[in-house]
Amino acid sequence: MTGQIAAGQTAPGHDMTDMATITVNGADLEVAADGSLAGALLSAGIRHLRNSPRDGTPRGALCFMGVCQECAIMIDGRIQQACQVQPRGGMRVELSGVI
Ligand code: FES
Repeated sequence: MTGQIAAGQTAPGHDMTDMATITVNGADLEVAADGSLAGALLSAGIRHLRNSPRDGTPRGALCFMGVCQECAIMIDGRIQQACQVQPRGGMRVELSGVI
């Protein structure tokens, strides 16, 4: 995961007033709270969101507008599109596995 921001670090370009602490696979991560979760994860260097149920290949956000479904991940215990959800403090995100 080269270039990825470590858990607990702050993504560049944002001040602390528009940040939220979420957990990603159980690790705390400070992300920008003023956009989509998919964008926040990408800003933190997280591009691999899940694996394809068909062939197991890594998948990540593509369209960022709710069309492709490639960003469907477990958010607070439900499968949701990360590009359609705004990060908020305490949000639990699970990236592992096939969805
Ligand atoms: S990135 Fe395409 S639906 Fe979310």
